[in-house]
Amino acid sequence: MSETETFQIPIEAAELYESAFVPAFFSQWAATLCSAAGVAPGRRVLDVACGTGIVTRTAADQRATVTGVDLNEAMLTVARRVRPELDWRQGNAQALPFDDDSFDVVVSQMALMFFPDPAAALAQMARVVVPGGTVAVMVPGALDRQAAFAPFVAMAARHAGPQAIDLLTAYFRCGDLDELAGLMGAAGPDVTEQRRVDGIYRAPSVDAFVTTEVESTPLVERMSAETYQQIRDEARTVLAPFTAGDGSVAAPFEANLVVAVA
Ligand SMILES: C[S@@+](CC[C@H](N)C(=O)[O-])C[C@H]1O[C@@H](n2cnc3c(N)ncnc32)[C@H](O)[C@@H]1O
Repeated sequence: MSETETFQIPIEAAELYESAFVPAFFSQWAATLCSAAGVAPGRRVLDVACGTGIVTRTAADQRATVTGVDLNEAMLTVARRVRPELDWRQGNAQALPFDDDSFDVVVSQMALMFFPDPAAALAQMARVVVPGGTVAVMVPGALDRQAAFAPFVAMAARHAGPQAIDLLTAYFRCGDLDELAGLMGAAGPDVTEQRRVDGIYRAPSVDAFVTTEVESTPLVERMSAETYQQIRDEARTVLAPFTAGDGSVAAPFEANLVVAVA
């Protein structure tokens, strides 16, 4: 199967992403990214790996002319349902379906770490932006800087073995800020800003936190029910500093932002 075929997710998962994870996590970064990228009325903005479209919508609300592109049809179906009037396209970040110099601003939020070849994707972003245009990416920061996720992954690895580290840390793969800026510079554009941005990852409960982190990876199929229960139990202790009286979790989350001019 092609990359496009293997990557598809069910529509229910895309709807859950929009109803639960966008408000709890993804929406908080969009305004910062748009502002750092210089999104403004009339600018042609491309949102790469737009998902259900939170950044695209934010740019549209600032009266930019927007296009959202994503590999995943289910994500785009939800994006179209929420904002049918905007331009949504199916396409691969590593082979963007746009002519050279088509946009004034290219942004990508919380996605670069999932691409098999992040450098190729940055080169594509540089290709489709006009000379003098802006490319800005936001990704999760390094695991060892995440006050809640680092001890959680270490605890899971104690129970499930070192395989847990690889499986639970794919999200933090582009976490080295200098390396990310270096990758952007190597793709062509001149880096004008690189910084860390503080945010919060919210979950309704410790159990929900564990379910999301473990069951969105193949780790859940590679450990026994007993091991999974041990992880669930100890997560209550590890996440206690971030758990409120009503049981909800508010975990600090650090992101990396890199802005460059083509
Ligand atoms: C965590 S979501 C982030 C979505 C959105 N940017 C947001 O902030 O809500 C990652 C997105 O990357 C998309 N994606 C992964 N690999 C891709 C690729 N090679 N080309 C385009 N989109 C891709 C997924 O379909 C998914 O929608």
